[in-house]
Formats: sequence, C-alpha cells, structure tokens
Amino acid sequence: MPLPPQELAKSLASAGQEHLLAFWDSLSADQQAELRTQLESVDLHLIAGLFQGDVDQPDWAAEARRATPPPAMRLADRRGEGTSTLGLKPDEAKQTGAAAMADGKLGILLVAGGQGSRLGFEHPKGMYPIGPVSGASLFEIHLRKAVGLAKKYGKSVPVYLMTSPVTHDETIAFLADHNRFGLPEEDLMIFCQGTMPAVDDKTGKLLLADKHQLFLSPDGHGGTVAALENSGAIKHMKSRGVEQLFYFQVDNPIVPMCDAELIGYHLLSKSELTSIAVAKETPEEKLGNFVMLGDRLHVIEYSDFPDDVAQVRNDDGSLRFWAGSIAIHVFDVAFLERMLSFKDALPFHVAHKKVPHLDANGNLVEPTEPNALKFERFIFDLLPQAARPIVVEYTEQECFAPLKNAPGAPKDTPEYVQRFMVDQHCEWLTEAGAKVEEGVAVEIDPVWGVDAGEVAKRVDSSTTYTEATYLRD
Ligand code: UD1
Repeated sequence: MPLPPQELAKSLASAGQEHLLAFWDSLSADQQAELRTQLESVDLHLIAGLFQGDVDQPDWAAEARRATPPPAMRLADRRGEGTSTLGLKPDEAKQTGAAAMADGKLGILLVAGGQGSRLGFEHPKGMYPIGPVSGASLFEIHLRKAVGLAKKYGKSVPVYLMTSPVTHDETIAFLADHNRFGLPEEDLMIFCQGTMPAVDDKTGKLLLADKHQLFLSPDGHGGTVAALENSGAIKHMKSRGVEQLFYFQVDNPIVPMCDAELIGYHLLSKSELTSIAVAKETPEEKLGNFVMLGDRLHVIEYSDFPDDVAQVRNDDGSLRFWAGSIAIHVFDVAFLERMLSFKDALPFHVAHKKVPHLDANGNLVEPTEPNALKFERFIFDLLPQAARPIVVEYTEQECFAPLKNAPGAPKDTPEYVQRFMVDQHCEWLTEAGAKVEEGVAVEIDPVWGVDAGEVAKRVDSSTTYTEATYLRD
C-alpha cells in the first residue's frame, strides 16, 4: 500500500488532524485518491479559526440593540394609503415591472441545495409532492410558474437552479424524467454549490463520514455567489440580457414569482437588492429580521435575535421589528457581479448539530445530542453591501407557505402548505366571479393561470366548483 502523501500527512499533523489518515492502509487506491482530493481541498487554517471562534463574528445581540426598522413599502403604501417616504407608486411599479418582464430582463434563481431533514423526506425537498389535488412536486410548481410567466409576457425567463452535492444527481435525474415540466432546455441551468466539513464540538477535529470520506455538508446559500461564478451562470445571464434576478427558496410553493409590482419598486427606487418582508405575528416567529444598522440593511437571523429586542412594541401595540425575511429577494445582476470579489469575505455562521461520524475504531456513531459544529454562509449577508435597499411588505397569504416540518407539527407542514395553496387559488377564482363550494379544493396549474390576473382571463364566472378540481390544459 502506498503511504499517505508526505506533505498532506505533515500538514494534517501540524493542524492536529492526523486522525483523518487512520484508515489509509485499508483503503483501495480509488478510495485513497478520493480522500486525498477531499483533504487537499479543505482550508485547515480557516477551519481552525472557525472552531476557535477567532473569525469575525458580529455580536448580534449588541447589534440588534442599536438597530432601527428598515425603509419599507408597507401594505398600506401598496394600497396607496400609507405614509412611506419612498415615494413609490403601486400602479407605476406594476407597469415598470411588467415592461421589464416583457423585455426579458429577469431571471429566476432557485436555491435547492438544503437537505429536507426537518421534513423527514430522504430526497431533495424539491421532489416533495405537495400539490393538494395534483400531487405536483415543488419543482413542478416552480418550473411551471416560469413557463406560465413566459406565456404571460411573451418572453422566456431563464431559471438558475442551485443544488448541492446532496441533491444534485437526483434533481437532475428527476427533472430529466419529467422533461423539466415543460420548461425548454435552454431556459434551465442547474449548478451545484460547494461544501464545508464539520468538526467535533469539543476537539475541533474534522469528522469522517466513512473511512475514505470527510463528513461534508452544503456551504449554505451564501455559497450561491461563488457557485454562480464557477458555473458560468453569470456569463449566461449576461449573454441572455438578464439584468435582475428573482431569488427564492425551494420550500415555498406560493412564491409570487417575478411579481411585476415587486420588480417595479426595485427598478423605480434604483435599489440593488429588494426583499419581500412579512409582518411577524409574534416576536418568536422563526423568521430572519430585517433591520437597519446605520444606513445598512441587515438580516439578523431569528436564532441570533435577542428576545427582549424582538418583544419591543410601538405605541399602537405593533412589533417595532416587524419585518420578517421570507428569503425572497430581487438582485441586480451587476450587484452580484460586484459581489464576486467579496464572496470569500462573507462571514460563516456556526450551527451546533447532530452529525453521524466514524469513531477512532471506524465504528459509526449516531449521536442523540448535538455533537458537531457546521459552518454555513448566508446569502442575506450580502444585504449590507447593497445600495439603496428596500423591503416591500406582502401578506403571508400572498407569498409565503414554506414546507419545513413533517406532518403533526403546528406550522409549515404539508397540510398547512396545501391549505395556503387552495386558499390562494380559490381566492383568485372567486375574485374572477366563479364560486367554490365550502371545503372544496381547487388547484391551478401555473401554466393555466400563473396569477390572479391570468386566472381572471380564463375563468367562466358562471362556474361553481363542487368537487376537487385541478385546472390545467
Ligand atoms: C430560512 C432563513 C430565514 C427565513 C426562512 C424563511 C436561513 C439561514 N434562514 O430559514 O431567515 O426567515 O428561511 O423560510 O436561510 N439552502 C441551500 N443550500 C444550503 C442551505 C440551504 O440551497 O447550503 C436552501 C434550502 O434548500 C432551502 C433554503 O436554502 O431552500 C433555506 O434553508 P433552511 O435550512 O430551510 O432555512 P430556515 O431555517 O428555514
């Protein structure tokens, strides 16, 4: 058996990570090569720094205490009745956004690299069959929305879909099996994000998933920026004339994809990064918080936001920090390009998790308590770099029903999400004059009608829906 490469063995030993070669002699040549490649790609210095906590981690609790609420178009402003100082007009925004869509200026960035572990689904979350009547997967709903938008505006909208090594192969096979749900091949670019190792929480030693494999997990959606560059996606956008990107997470089937009003506010305010916010119902709600620190917009994650600040109320009883992030943003492509040089400076966030791994004897340990530190970058850490950022308030019913939890949990379960989908589609139908009997589920294929306006064009107002119906061509 060849010995481990000298240089590698030396650098591992000097970083206290020599245990990673403990099984070297029992590995095949291919396995040795795989382990070697993985180990050579790890930045041991960075990992040591992250473990020791000597990497710049803001004191979020202190930051939250000096924060102020963000510049916003609130719901009342969107109805033309508010007091926003942004000076934006809803009708003008809708026209401006629609014109940008018809000009082919928009692209869609869908992040689908996370594991569906909280949901108990052992496949990419995008494959989860969520359609309340159709059983359509999250991927089907999202891709068919892109098809529906192309139909509405007469211009295709390319989809940039980010996977991770955990979800990549299965996602590719699933979409190929289903012909990308009607999205033309040239309108879909799939690219894979990077990974980060995990370390033992007490010793800082890197964990092995197998004798020839490190435990690696996706590097967080902050990895999007690097992945966009490495995959050539930014070049692709430029060649297609895409100037703005609509960003969202795979778990939310009611996302108002490329909503003209949102895009319009973004363009009219010359914002580099515009985000949807929903008003938090309770201080404890598990949403990132949009706040201003000086003249910079930040999201402080719910886990970092101190309770006493979350609970502060205005005189009218509303929450002072009302603006919850539902991870929907519009980015200028030029801004993302500018951020390419900044991508390595995005901070890492540390999460304490249960990570299965091999012990010193090569036996698999399945921890019952968190035992390891994982490191992730977050896309919203780009926010403070953006010029003229704004947030736009939407109601939860308009935009947010994320699939996060397995059946039985109080919120964000499959049943919860399906209720939101049915309510939204029934509302579109009744607004257009049709009737839906109490308790009847109607679901609309996004190509049949991508939004309330498109549905209104097709609905026969004399129809009453009396049984579960899936409207599609
Ligand atoms: C996330 C946001 C939170 C927001 C909430 C709204 C983070 C850290 N927090 O919380 O501010 O209020 O959503 O739903 O994101 N993903 C990747 N690659 C990764 C990690 C995640 O593509 O490496 C994707 C996942 O596929 C998923 C999304 O990012 O689509 C969110 O990840 P998740 O772990 O579900 O975040 P939440 O804790 O729900």
